[in-house]
Amino acid sequence: MVTSLDDAKRIAIASKLADMKEIQALLMENEQTLMSACNDEEIRQRLQDMLEDDRKNMGILETVIVQYGVKGEPKSTTQEMVKSVKRLMQGSELSLYEKFAQHELLKHGQTMSGLLIHKAAQVVGADVEAAITPLNTVNFENRAHQEQLKGVLEVIGVRELTGKEAEQGLWARVQDAVAALSGVAGSVVSRTDDEMNIQDVIRMDHQKVNMLFAQIEGSDNPQKIQEYFGQIYKDLTVHAEAEEQVVYPAVRSFYGESDTQELYDEQAEMKLMLDSIKAMSPSSSEFKQQVKRLKDAVMDHVRQEESTMFAAIRNNCSDEQKERLATEFKAAKAKLQERLAATMK
Ligand SMILES: [Fe+2]
Ligand SMILES: [Fe+2]
Repeated sequence: MVTSLDDAKRIAIASKLADMKEIQALLMENEQTLMSACNDEEIRQRLQDMLEDDRKNMGILETVIVQYGVKGEPKSTTQEMVKSVKRLMQGSELSLYEKFAQHELLKHGQTMSGLLIHKAAQVVGADVEAAITPLNTVNFENRAHQEQLKGVLEVIGVRELTGKEAEQGLWARVQDAVAALSGVAGSVVSRTDDEMNIQDVIRMDHQKVNMLFAQIEGSDNPQKIQEYFGQIYKDLTVHAEAEEQVVYPAVRSFYGESDTQELYDEQAEMKLMLDSIKAMSPSSSEFKQQVKRLKDAVMDHVRQEESTMFAAIRNNCSDEQKERLATEFKAAKAKLQERLAATMK
């Protein structure tokens, strides 16, 4: 039998993602604190724009965490650090320059965490890389924010030290640096669309599970096979249940009773297969045969969803409805992941 659905490397990445979420919340709080402490209109405007990016990036981080499908807790040291930074930012021990410098350091750390997760994903598996792709946008913006904060530090630092204004031309230089970033860092830091509709979100899940099947097929290492199957088990269970809670009831009226029912029935079948495979040994030859059977069933089901069900959604839902379904689907998945993690303990 598959001894554990969890894998240490995957949990470590999940914990790093949870750390990033803590830091993201701190960054947003800092930006508000700094805005009220600073009376330079131009700098306040910069901070306001940064805060808007960071709010959006928090949403992307939450999407990535759900898409990744492994639950992690932030490290206790991260939580301690967040507390002490908050105290320093609100207190009067640090000058404004020192507060901005602290903020810039945090941004740097956040950029590095994003890049580190990207590199770790390359080592752990293609399915992880697929799940964390939207993080590239966050990495890009954090990197751009760092450049802007360097500019702010220069202005405020010169004022604190001399009471005079720094030589001008600063913002133009910052803009140039930001523009150069996409060229330097390539695809790891690039912008992508942030509004996803329900078809995008479902398709991402399908691609991820497809990669996991390919990884099992390509491996002879029972340890690796167990790791990939554990992820397939969790992802498919959560994906299917979220579809049954959010998507199938919403499409039933226009997709048709019999086609919708067929999707429910196929998923019931898949659930039985998942549990029977879970009871087998990952090193047995039967294990791989049954995984192949499951894969064929899943791919058949996926084809139906992506062809006729997606077409029905395109023809019957407004853009706004499609985006709302995506939000509901992600929220349902997050809840189901919590529940699944709790039952596995
Ligand atoms: Fe489905
Ligand atoms: Fe699906």
